[in-house]
Amino acid sequence: MSGMYRSLLVGSGAYLPQQIVTNDELAERIDTSDEWIRKRTGIQQRHVAADGEMTSDLALAAAKIALADAGMDASEIDLIVLATTTPDDTFPATATKVQSALGITQGAAFDVQAVCAGFIYALATADNFVRAGQAKRVLVIGAETFTRILDWEDRTTCVLFGDGAGAVVLEAETVPAGTNRSSYGVLSTHLHSDGRARDVLYVDGGPSSTGTTGHVRMNGQEVFKHAVQKLSRVIDETLEANDLSASDIDWLVPHQANQRIIDAMANRMNLPSEKVVSCIREHANTSAASVPLALSAAVRDGRIKNGDLVLMEAIGGGLAWGAGLVRIGRPNGSGEA
Ligand code: UT7
Repeated sequence: MSGMYRSLLVGSGAYLPQQIVTNDELAERIDTSDEWIRKRTGIQQRHVAADGEMTSDLALAAAKIALADAGMDASEIDLIVLATTTPDDTFPATATKVQSALGITQGAAFDVQAVCAGFIYALATADNFVRAGQAKRVLVIGAETFTRILDWEDRTTCVLFGDGAGAVVLEAETVPAGTNRSSYGVLSTHLHSDGRARDVLYVDGGPSSTGTTGHVRMNGQEVFKHAVQKLSRVIDETLEANDLSASDIDWLVPHQANQRIIDAMANRMNLPSEKVVSCIREHANTSAASVPLALSAAVRDGRIKNGDLVLMEAIGGGLAWGAGLVRIGRPNGSGEA
């Protein structure tokens, strides 16, 4: 019998729109303050896409950087899985726009929708395509123009989110027959959802319900409680599935929604803050882009290196949540991921 496939994570990239809106600037428009936002969330600023700049533009920029990082030409990609809550249009999939902009005519491209957990869902989907032998080189993208679905009069939500994109490249590796586990690449993914909690975080519009795009509505305290409880459980599930303990993890790359949630996860895992990647300060919650933005930032600045074991997690509307464990780069790799 021939070997089995596993996905190596061989490149990453990110893109943030140029325009920055600080907490102080928001405080000029609505009843809030830099102090409240920083103390309750850790956020200092967010990036906002320019007029006419769409989710596909941010996704394309991140994808190009990830491809260059992987040393791969776009023509080698045979699958694009793009996670977004803010697609350019109701249809077609934003992934197909990125596909054509990259000049790719082979394979498939589609979107997945799991809001802030979107990147973990996209990673799991892509990894399962690779494991099934249906894709060899995959672009996995999380991209959002989330500020477009915010109610700028609602201070309980509008201060929390920003726009951005992050991408990774997966490459199939053949694991020799008889070995059921590669020590590199996507080691496991774990997805969950529970639609009963829909009303704690949703958008009050859509093509089939109201015919409008709608705005984000959230019960922050409830989401906070769900986040701490469900992310803790899925982290435990991931460690158990891989026979690991928290001290084996080199980096926690958490969803960037609230510094207090990030700290709660780190404390629970007994991880020192140096092992936890946080960039919520610079770009707030970018929903599906949040995890790959953080991953890419830590790879770029040299913190995350080839061979490092990285645990990613995220939760968002649905509720939908999940985690993924990845050993970054290529076995005997050059040090770049
Ligand atoms: O990615 C999707 C997942 N989303 C999340 O993970 C979000 C999870 N939730 C949170 O991060 C937090 O619940 C928030 C940051 C949203 C809110 O923090 P909190 O500590 O739970 O505050 P709170 O909702 O209990 O509000 C405390 C007070 C309230 O005033 P009163 O009732 O105590 O007088 C709010 O009206 O803060 C007020 N408040 C604000 N004040 C200034 C709410 N938003 C603001 C604001 N500026 N922007």
